[in-house]
This record gives sequence, C-alpha cells and structure tokens, in this order.
Amino acid sequence: MVIRSFLAKQLGYPSGFFGRLVMKLLNKSNAEMNDITFTKLNIQPGDFILEIGFGGGYLLNKIATSQIPSLIAAIDPTIDVIKMGNKKFKHQIKQKYLELKQASAESLPYNNRYFDKICTVNTIYFWSDPKLVLDECNRVLKLNGKLVICYNSPVFLEKTKLTQHGFKTYEPENLELLMQSSGFTDISTISADGGTSNEVFYCTCGTVTYINSRK
Ligand SMILES: C[S@@+](CC[C@H](N)C(=O)[O-])C[C@H]1O[C@@H](n2cnc3c(N)ncnc32)[C@H](O)[C@@H]1O
Repeated sequence: MVIRSFLAKQLGYPSGFFGRLVMKLLNKSNAEMNDITFTKLNIQPGDFILEIGFGGGYLLNKIATSQIPSLIAAIDPTIDVIKMGNKKFKHQIKQKYLELKQASAESLPYNNRYFDKICTVNTIYFWSDPKLVLDECNRVLKLNGKLVICYNSPVFLEKTKLTQHGFKTYEPENLELLMQSSGFTDISTISADGGTSNEVFYCTCGTVTYINSRK
C-alpha cells in the first residue's frame, strides 16, 4: 500500500532519484502508447506541435528526431522533469527548435491559435479540471488543429489499484462528450492492447472546428 502510494505520487509528480528512475521505466513501458500517439499526430512539415506532460521525453525525442515539424514545445508542471528535459534536449533547445516550460495543462502559457497539433499521453488522470484543460487546448490550437489524448482504460487502472491513489479514469465516451462541449469535432477513439497484463489503452483524437464561446 505504501509502495503503491509512493509510486502513484512519482507517476503524477516525478521528483529526485526515484522520479528519474520512474521516468526511464515509463519511457519503456509506455512506448507503445507514445508510438501510436506519434502516428495519430500525422506531423507535417511546418507544424507547430505541443506536448503536455512529457515525463521522460520518449515521445518528445521521437518528434524532435523526425525533424518534420517547424517548432516543438512541451510543458510539464514538475521541476525535475523540466531539468531532465533541459539536459536531454539541450542541442534542440539551443537551436530554438524545441522549447520547454514549467506549466500545467490547466493553464497553457501560449497565445491563442498558436499550435497545429497537441498531444498528451498518460496525463489525463492528473487533470484537476478536464473541461478547463480541453478549453485551453481549443484556445491554443489553430482552426482545424488536432488534439491527441492517449490514456489507460479504467479497467487497467483499477486493476493496478492506482485509482485508489487519486488517478481519475475516463471511458472514451465520457472524454469524447467533454471534447465535444469544448468545441472539438471529428472525434474518434481507437483502443489497443499494450501486450502485458491486459493493458488496454485508448487514443482519442479531435479537431477544432469551432472556437469555444467561453474564450
Ligand atoms: C505518468 S507521467 C507520463 C509521462 C509521459 N507522457 C509518458 O507517457 O511516459 C505523467 C506526467 O504528467 C505530468 N503532469 C502531472 N499533472 C499534470 C498536469 N496537470 N498538466 C500537465 N502535466 C501534468 C507529470 O509531471 C508527469 O511528467
């Protein structure tokens, strides 16, 4: 119980030695979720991309080494994640190809209609206000901009007992409804199986086709 609570905290806000270790392990265990997210982004030359909650940087690295987009930005609220990222991506940061900021999904530090695509993997469980996050994504995405969200199934998270430690779960239908109410259309979800421990996960995509009236 104590170990699981410690692990849950490290997954949400990785810090110190164990945080670094957990992020390295996540780069391996979440590779398939991040690979599917990369494919769904369908990055085109000229794209401005934002990743929310980049953790150990597996997906960020994949996007950066593809050399396809024009600009890559990433945020994470955890200072140790930013420090690790600053080291790992120092060359791309120096070249102004990639920028990292300490921030949360609930308050994106960017101008309106700035990005072509936004992605986030395994962060939705920690959002304090999912509607606010989706409104923020609408605000910083250009019209026809795409949002890709990848997350484990409630069944899997219950099995791992992470739900007992504050992880919020989402069925795809619930997330899709929330996305609709934040101005996204063309919403679709695929499910996949991570291969181990019946790890079913979902990848939900949507497009901004109208600007949310609250913004
Ligand atoms: C479980 S890790 C996932 C990391 C990576 N995306 C992956 O799939 O391996 C969760 C990450 O989300 C970040 N995070 C937690 N709360 C967040 C929030 N409200 N907004 C954005 N990121 C958040 C954490 O700091 C951490 O880096």
